[in-house]
Amino acid sequence: MSDLLTVVSIIEAHDDEDAEAAQDDYQDDGVDNQFVLEIEGRIVGVTGFRTVPATDETYWLSWTYLLPEYQGKGHGKAMLLELLDMLAALKARKLFVKVSDYQDDDGKLYDSAFKTYQSLGFVEEVVNLDFYDEDENQHILSLDLKGQAAGEGDDVNVIEEKPIIRFCGLLEIAETDGAYTFSWEVKDTKKWFGKRNFTVEDLTLGLSAAQESGARKVFLTFPSNLPLIHQPLQAAGFEFVGCVDDYYEQGIHEFHFVYTI
Ligand SMILES: CC(C)(COP(=O)(O)OP(=O)(O)OC[C@H]1O[C@@H](n2cnc3c(N)ncnc32)[C@H](O)[C@@H]1OP(=O)(O)O)[C@@H](O)C(=O)NCCC(=O)NCCS
Repeated sequence: MSDLLTVVSIIEAHDDEDAEAAQDDYQDDGVDNQFVLEIEGRIVGVTGFRTVPATDETYWLSWTYLLPEYQGKGHGKAMLLELLDMLAALKARKLFVKVSDYQDDDGKLYDSAFKTYQSLGFVEEVVNLDFYDEDENQHILSLDLKGQAAGEGDDVNVIEEKPIIRFCGLLEIAETDGAYTFSWEVKDTKKWFGKRNFTVEDLTLGLSAAQESGARKVFLTFPSNLPLIHQPLQAAGFEFVGCVDDYYEQGIHEFHFVYTI
């Protein structure tokens, strides 16, 4: 935490909004598994990872930035390789990262990041179009730390589940302009709502509220083993975007859906 301001200033050298969002993250979620890169006593970079609750050994890459004058000299890859060693020691299964393809007059802002992740073996899993803003897409990349190719674990015995899912909130997704999602929870079947799963009417209600709040798009994700979600999502006009393989556990993927307002 004593390095927080230095780290935020490194991120700020690239993007003010990322620096602000990163500072909030460190303050809200702490600095466990977050690391700085020091060269000759100077902090010049930051990276880290966070676990994903309710998954089997799934991790997200945290804010990963170098001071601009230290870029392009192999430091980023060296820093990430060290992080991958730590994840291997933890028996991590998959590491994910979200990257924007924002483009300004000088080209793609995160081009070095894409190149670096590709050189480490990350592959693209899902592209959420117009996610951060109009024409600024979100790319979800992953690295399989167990060395399995996508689909290799598909013969695992996945049990379909039919929980009672109810929506409980509408929120704008952090770091986006106008991308919303619904939070959802699994209801105790004995309680007031009875045994009814969410319906097309529930979705329509949520979409109207999203529209009133100025949403451009509504993004939803669900585990792949819930057969009851598809009919209402389709009837309400949601489109299937893609699938993040083995996100929850081997054989249970994350399905991404979008509704364009
Ligand atoms: C992303 C970042 C941490 C990478 O660190 P880096 O030290 O610049 O990258 P490296 O010099 O270690 O390069 C790693 C690999 O990517 C390639 N690469 C990196 N930047 C590249 C570029 N602009 N063009 C072509 N290749 C590039 C290198 O050739 C190398 O590949 P190789 O090992 O197969 O030869 C750093 O560039 C950075 O801080 N970028 C700005 C912030 C950012 O975008 N963060 C990520 C947000 S998701």
